Amino acid sequence: MTLLGKVALVTGAGSGIGRAIALRFAEDGAKVVVADIKPDTAQAVVEEIKAKGGEAILAVCNIAKEEDVQAMVDAAINEFGTLDILVNNAGIMDNFEPLHEVTDELWERILSVNTTGTMRVTRKALAIFLEKKQGCIINVASVAGVEGARAGAAYTTSKHAMIGFARNTAFMYANSGIRCNVIAPGGVETNILAGMSRASEFGMGRIQVGMPLNPRMGQPEEIAGVATFLASDDASYVNGAVIVVNGGFTAY
Ligand SMILES: NC(=O)c1ccc[n+]([C@@H]2O[C@H](COP(=O)([O-])OP(=O)(O)OC[C@H]3O[C@@H](n4cnc5c(N)ncnc54)[C@H](O)[C@@H]3O)[C@@H](O)[C@H]2O)c1
Repeated sequence: MTLLGKVALVTGAGSGIGRAIALRFAEDGAKVVVADIKPDTAQAVVEEIKAKGGEAILAVCNIAKEEDVQAMVDAAINEFGTLDILVNNAGIMDNFEPLHEVTDELWERILSVNTTGTMRVTRKALAIFLEKKQGCIINVASVAGVEGARAGAAYTTSKHAMIGFARNTAFMYANSGIRCNVIAPGGVETNILAGMSRASEFGMGRIQVGMPLNPRMGQPEEIAGVATFLASDDASYVNGAVIVVNGGFTAY
């Protein structure tokens, strides 16, 4: 129960990695705001937490929309009185497009969620953390945030930006009781590829070159374990870190 009494907000918590983090945080004693753009799957996670004796509420939110973000964090405060932990997990993939296939629409869609959405949610939560002089932020980026070609140009840029943003935030507020860290997962078995209309032949062809180095796919729970460590007091001196969690994929 390393998170006993803490209030945690997890975006994209209706599926995959976010769902596993929400369930694990609740198991470890946190009250969880299960936030997602899709109400049905997120509500199912709320029910799952409650069925196990935990505390959770649903917040329907598109993190790319400022008004949704304001309402989501306000709902958390209204229900639980405060906020201690923010997990910026909601994210969307591109179709592995290299730059010559990138349209403005694709670029803006991916960055508006993965990068600008993360900034919006963090900015709103930060006001609470600064007031309390305490807070923990975890960005779920990707191995595509530290390596050059594990996805298309838009997704890769969005995840590199999430890391730069997290490190800047970590340093800026290091004396304000706020920690900000990054988890960079490799390939994890979730629904993220379901949203992909078609993979770019050119982009996929280049990405495939590195794939034999991946020892195996990960499970969402293997990311949740790292998140619960980062959220706990055991990680009190961990700030501005980027923890790559990929079974050794990029260790060569
Ligand atoms: N699965 C992987 O292999 C992998 C690898 C590295 C990083 N990641 C990152 O992990 C995070 C979680 O992805 P996942 O694999 O669990 O995918 P997923 O598709 O299973 O879950 C993502 C969740 O985010 C929600 N979401 C999407 N856009 C949203 C928005 N605008 N506002 C609020 N919620 C939104 C979706 O409804 C969904 O429930 C993402 O940021 C992704 O980039 C995933």
